[in-house]
Amino acid sequence: MDVLVVGSGGREHALCRAFRRSPKAGKLYCASGNAGIAQDAECVAIAPDDIKALADFAQSRNIGLTFIGGEVPLALGVGDEFAARGLNAIAPSRDASQLESSKSFAKDFMARHGVPTPRYVTAHSPDFAILELESGDFGDESAPVVVKADGLAAGKGVVVAKNRADAIAAISGMSELVGTAAAEKIVLEECLTGHEVSLLAFVDGENFALMPPVRDHKRIGDGDTGPNTGGMGTITDASLLNGDELTQITEAVIRPTLHGCIREGFRYRGVLFLGLMMTKDGPQLLEYNVRFGDPETQAILVRLEADLVDICGSMISGTLASSEIKWRPGSSACVVLAAEGYPGKVRTGDVIDGAQDMPTGVEVFHAGTALDPQHRFITNGGRVLGVTAAGDDLASTLDLVYSGVGRISWPGMQYRHDIGK
Ligand code: AMP
Ligand code: GLY
Repeated sequence: MDVLVVGSGGREHALCRAFRRSPKAGKLYCASGNAGIAQDAECVAIAPDDIKALADFAQSRNIGLTFIGGEVPLALGVGDEFAARGLNAIAPSRDASQLESSKSFAKDFMARHGVPTPRYVTAHSPDFAILELESGDFGDESAPVVVKADGLAAGKGVVVAKNRADAIAAISGMSELVGTAAAEKIVLEECLTGHEVSLLAFVDGENFALMPPVRDHKRIGDGDTGPNTGGMGTITDASLLNGDELTQITEAVIRPTLHGCIREGFRYRGVLFLGLMMTKDGPQLLEYNVRFGDPETQAILVRLEADLVDICGSMISGTLASSEIKWRPGSSACVVLAAEGYPGKVRTGDVIDGAQDMPTGVEVFHAGTALDPQHRFITNGGRVLGVTAAGDDLASTLDLVYSGVGRISWPGMQYRHDIGK
């Protein structure tokens, strides 16, 4: 069957490569893709938020399967649009997507269904959030507090403030940072300490299949310094969660979530992403995403040995329980190479050297690239490339990935040297 992937980053490039490995995938399209994706799929110029145009394209080309990469089309209801036209898509419905598109909806949902999550309060405007803090009901003056914009904010809507004064400053600046619509409501949350880990699952409405646990590195600088980014690198490794922890997360978080979705009238079908803090009192859920992460996908999919078309078929037909999904044992890592200035204003148009000459086993996923008139790859975004590999253990995997990174260069290229360390 012909397949359409929606999005234009490293996540979508990894999805395209995984579909390319399937003997069941016919022609592969990507809307709107990038210069690297164009080597694996036919790129079509449809914006990811134009959900009618996406469905028109899928319908007119008789696409058998569409995979939505990012959260924006999901929040706009692309899943409902495709379902209404009888088109197969991996795209949770608009109702289900509220688990990501509204932090206050997600927190209330967790509370209704007994999913462990940090204590919180929702304020119906930034001014009320400040009043809430000043009234002293939420934490004391010197305690850290987490400030979250309610709406989608491309990773910029969360500030971990070290005390009340900083929290108030974060609230005051939130509208400017993420836009007034996303910052209309503010969630204040207790600050937890522990180990952060993400766990993703394929979900068919009732059943789920876990992927390897994954860890992102959000700050721009080595040693977790500097501003937050969309993610500078990821690893998968068995040490991230042991068997007991996986059981705890399954019982305390995943099962109540899927039952909750059914009880509230929306079945969850698609990829479910849990952002977790492992505390001394067990797992606490910080966030849901209703999709694959970027750059989590790159590190996860290089370990997938099963056929992604088959997995999507099982999610759609509700038969995940009887399908076995094989993963390559061991570890994987993805190191993001970013342009000068990222995560602020970036410089683009620099010629990328060395990306086509990788050691055996290393894959380069393109996130922000274009071709210049001489057909050379140039930088065309903040996150530019994701150098990725799987291996038998984390140390050798990281050696392999960083040997690939060492061959690539352009003026101003930046990356973290401590992914997985
Ligand atoms: P979120 O988008 O809600 O996952 O938040 C983004 C990041 O902020 C997380 O990956 C954590 O590093 C941090 N964070 C969010 N909520 C909390 C919390 N309650 N306590 C400590 N850190 C948090
Ligand atoms: N890397 C985090 C995300 O995709 O939301």
